[in-house]
Amino acid sequence: MEVVICKTAEEVGPRAADHVIKCISGRSTPVLGLATGSSPLSLYAELARRVEAGELDLSHALAFALDEYVGIDPAHPESYANVIRRTVTEPLHLSESRVRVPDGAADDVAAAAADYDAAIEALGGVDCQILGIGSNGHIGFNEPFSSFSSRTRIKTLTPQTREDNARFFNSLDEVPRHCVTQGLGTIMDSHSAVLVATGEGKAEAVAAMIEGPVSQVCPASILQFHPRAIIVIDEAAASKLQ
Ligand code: F6R
Repeated sequence: MEVVICKTAEEVGPRAADHVIKCISGRSTPVLGLATGSSPLSLYAELARRVEAGELDLSHALAFALDEYVGIDPAHPESYANVIRRTVTEPLHLSESRVRVPDGAADDVAAAAADYDAAIEALGGVDCQILGIGSNGHIGFNEPFSSFSSRTRIKTLTPQTREDNARFFNSLDEVPRHCVTQGLGTIMDSHSAVLVATGEGKAEAVAAMIEGPVSQVCPASILQFHPRAIIVIDEAAASKLQ
């Protein structure tokens, strides 16, 4: 696990973008894993800036989002299908057909989740998995006590995660209670991972991920065993490191 501490939150996106580009360089069809939420937005914006400037071409990339809510209208602006379209597919000029998001509205969500996992595996895994971290140490929506060997599946969101994500909805009641998420096993199969976190609110989870025991109490701590995980954080998120 490599830890990069940036002086300010503004530096995190460009530094993380450098790592993502390094991780996929030389791949004719790079496979990206995509987190949603606030943390990767500056990274996506930086990648988009480089695409616009002609410095980066991701048109051959394939991408798989980490997760999706279950029980949300797919047309809802905060469905992850829409968030990914808005923040990644369009600004990075990716073709819609090359970007997949788990289907939380499928007739058989469990079967769709298994197919999704199999599709990633059939491509040889994700080349670069972009991650954020929840204040409770989740990655994807693998909440505390998720199995380290888990694959893409349905999960229940914890009250903490629902509260954290309520800012994207009109009320806490509107926040879905379930999701489909790539599993920790799926994430660990990625060839490289770049996790971004900023702000003091993430400091405890970041310390547990980097310095705590590898434990299901903090699912992100499994990244200590990842052969190529790069953690890009600002000083505030690093403030509880020893
Ligand atoms: C979302 C995801 C989550 C978020 C985490 C942090 O796709 O995978 O693990 O990365 O909840 O969210 P933000 O960045 O909004 O603080």
